[in-house]
Amino acid sequence: MHGEAQPDRRGAAEGEPSESQKSSRADTIVDRHLGRILISRDEIAARVAELGEAIGRDYAGRSPLLVGVLKGAVVFTADLLRAIPRPSAMDFMAVSSYGSGTRSSGVVRLTADLSISIEGRDVIIVEDVIDSGRTISYLRRNLATRHPRSLALCVLLDKVARREVDVEVDYVGFAIPDEFVVGYGLDYDGRHRNLADLAVLDPVAAPV
Ligand code: PRP
Repeated sequence: MHGEAQPDRRGAAEGEPSESQKSSRADTIVDRHLGRILISRDEIAARVAELGEAIGRDYAGRSPLLVGVLKGAVVFTADLLRAIPRPSAMDFMAVSSYGSGTRSSGVVRLTADLSISIEGRDVIIVEDVIDSGRTISYLRRNLATRHPRSLALCVLLDKVARREVDVEVDYVGFAIPDEFVVGYGLDYDGRHRNLADLAVLDPVAAPV
């Protein structure tokens, strides 16, 4: 998440709290625990294979460059790269949001840049999840100024209900409901990125 301690960035089941609701919730939620599996490792592998095949077909005769967005997209990017049946490359960049509290201000900044030029390259941005759409909107604008030959977006999880900014997505793994999801690279406060499945994280209320 933008800032390791911002559990509301993926919405969870609570929706959009007011400031007073947030502080009241902070008093009652002490942690979150792993709930049900939303998407299993086998379902993920099958969908990643399909996405790789589709990209391989769409980029026939070309050599796409996957640009993974740290940190959440690392696992997906590595698997997707291996699923594309043609010469492909990868690089990474990192972004962060300004602002405090549990909501992003929507102002995104680059914290780690690519290691190579993308001028004239066929670039595919790879994201783990699109929520408000602000991060990917910033990244698209930023990368477009570098004159790639083409610029596309592949996202594993699309939380359509959370969208605040229009985003054109070229490849989608799964459209998911507005729940707090961890695993397969996605975290809660830095944890659970190493889960092989995608699981829902449920709030745990403090004892009264
Ligand atoms: C996630 C995801 C996107 C962003 C999406 O990153 O990887 O970059 O949030 O949210 P948006 O559509 O509302 O902008 P996160 O902040 O969780 O960082 P991480 O990838 O390092 O875990």
